[in-house]
Amino acid sequence: NNIVVLISGSGSNLQAIIDACSNGVIKNSQITAVISNKENAYGLERARAANIEAIHIAPKQYGNREQYDDALAERIEQFNPDVVILAGFMRILSGDFVRRFKGKMLNIHPSLLPKYPGLNTHQRAIDAGDTEHGTSVHFVTEELDGGPVILQAKVPIFANDTVEEVTARVQKQEHAIYPLVTQWLAEKRLTMIDGKAVFDGEIL
Ligand code: GRF
Repeated sequence: NNIVVLISGSGSNLQAIIDACSNGVIKNSQITAVISNKENAYGLERARAANIEAIHIAPKQYGNREQYDDALAERIEQFNPDVVILAGFMRILSGDFVRRFKGKMLNIHPSLLPKYPGLNTHQRAIDAGDTEHGTSVHFVTEELDGGPVILQAKVPIFANDTVEEVTARVQKQEHAIYPLVTQWLAEKRLTMIDGKAVFDGEIL
């Protein structure tokens, strides 16, 4: 199976998936390209270090979101991906783009969805006084952070935790669950049917 990963930043989730491909947690699959909208995303260096094609596509070269998303989709399709992974890709994707990769594209969002779609999730959970927080892997649909959830991991929030401490605790869980769900999609144990996530024939 071919996996294409989209990033904008550090790429620690990308690294977890690279490692999972090399240590056999993800079987019979390889990341064929990593694409970033940000030229200096550290994740591009992680890709190069793993001998994976690292591509930067700059939004400012395109007139609008649709043109950018068309160019991005065409580049992705050149790699014939079975799975497209959003790993900290910080752009809203147009409906056409999302439909092109329907059922093949996953995102990880750092909250217990449906709580806290959007940005600054850790700070929002702390500010709300939540004692429980976490991360969610979901299929990407046209609704931002609104596609069907496949797997979540929970972490506690303790009194006086800083946002850095909470972020680190959540990210550790992300690195455990994202490779696992990627493997499920690659081996087709996981599908999206009528907008619902289905795993081993059961609706989640
Ligand atoms: C992750 O926390 C993910 O949940 C969010 O963006 C962050 C990306 O981190 N969508 P990294 O680039 O994988 O380190």
